[in-house]
Amino acid sequence: MYMKMLKKGLLLFIAFTFAMVSACTATSVNSGANQSVVKGVSDMNVKLKYMGQGTVRITTEDNKVIYVDPFAGDDYSAAADLILQTHDHFDHSALNKVANRNKDCQIITEKEALVNGEHKTFDLPFVKVVSVEAGYNRNHDVNKCVGYVLEFKNGVKVYLTGDTSKTKQMEKMSSMNIDYAFYCTDGKFNMGNAEAAECAKLVNAKHNIPYHNDTNDDGVRFDRKLAEEWTAPNKMIVDVNEEIVLEKEKVGEKMSKTLVLYSSFIGEQYSVGVIEKGNTEIVADMIIEKLGADRYKVEPKNDTYPKDSYKRLTEIASEELHNNARPEIKDVTFDISNYDTIFIGAPVWWGDFPMIMYTLFEKVDMNGKTIVPFSTHGGSGLSGFDNKLKRLYPNATIMRGLAITGTDTQNKKDSVKSEVDKWINGLNIAK
Ligand SMILES: Cc1cc2nc3c(=O)[nH]c(=O)nc-3n(C[C@H](O)[C@H](O)[C@H](O)COP(=O)(O)O)c2cc1C
Repeated sequence: MYMKMLKKGLLLFIAFTFAMVSACTATSVNSGANQSVVKGVSDMNVKLKYMGQGTVRITTEDNKVIYVDPFAGDDYSAAADLILQTHDHFDHSALNKVANRNKDCQIITEKEALVNGEHKTFDLPFVKVVSVEAGYNRNHDVNKCVGYVLEFKNGVKVYLTGDTSKTKQMEKMSSMNIDYAFYCTDGKFNMGNAEAAECAKLVNAKHNIPYHNDTNDDGVRFDRKLAEEWTAPNKMIVDVNEEIVLEKEKVGEKMSKTLVLYSSFIGEQYSVGVIEKGNTEIVADMIIEKLGADRYKVEPKNDTYPKDSYKRLTEIASEELHNNARPEIKDVTFDISNYDTIFIGAPVWWGDFPMIMYTLFEKVDMNGKTIVPFSTHGGSGLSGFDNKLKRLYPNATIMRGLAITGTDTQNKKDSVKSEVDKWINGLNIAK
């Protein structure tokens, strides 16, 4: 069977091998890091920087900047669009620290958030601010303190308790489906670890993060040791000055997540000279950017593929095809059960996938998934990637593939990008 495929590949290959001799004189060098697994981080993410004590800075999808309880840290350079204050104690109300404010910057303190015993909601264009109960201890009066639940356009909900002990409202808050909840845990002015863990169980957020736990006043404004001792479920520790991406996770629900899985080779390549970013990787990047997908690059465990001679590379590949080889690959670091849709891309090598792809295919069962093939090539198109995948995974749904000429990825990026966009839009895949 492989002899037959080899002959077919050989025929397809002859045309561009001839062309290659003249085309390889031009050297195109493109830069770009080769990463194996990078979580899909698109511009649509909300970022939260923990600045110590009860202070956080949030940057929304549309680059609006929100400071909550300004006090700790000194990174207040980003111009504020919204300042939230949970109560007027000095370590929550240093509003003057936020000197840089955009023209329409709004300030919401406990006075606006809690009026005549009623907790208010503020529906701003970039965030919905829901004020909730806080207080219930001798240092914090329930009539003068609030917490906030912030809901962003990407659906992520963040709860900042402010200063508090267990509140009555917490018993009802699990229905809010909060993604990230920050609990004060100092145990001196407010509830401590044990009570905060109880609250975390009640509120039932997907991630529970201890904050406002600094009692030793060493200037760090966060007690890492105390945070480590906290025994809340789904605990996550965010250190001072750490910035996290707030992503929507639907625990217990089936997620529609996409993985882009591909191989791609650098060095001297057909008709493009020496390249630092492979042709297929350029297309993979475009898909990842468009869909906010995750990435897995199939890479050899020991990369002995020549980088200085396209000709030798073709000889080695031909030998691998002939021997039906399974070159060893680096560890598979993704969990296929996390994904519904998998884009599978590779350069066409002798009319087929590079054999390294079969090493992966034999390790990972993609039956039941939606698979979208793509190739880059020197003239052979998709080379039956779709049918090969159908044979490998008979219970997968194989979508319409895309074949891009390798030279175009390096030299005509804009038109390749529109082709990729058009193709993905036509696939009708959930983002
Ligand atoms: C070993 C080898 C074999 C190839 N065989 C074919 C082929 O059979 N048909 C074809 O159209 N292109 C073939 N090419 C060209 C590549 O498919 C094309 O240059 C591709 O875009 C390279 O992608 P990459 O940079 O992501 O590895 C071959 C290239 C190499 C290195």
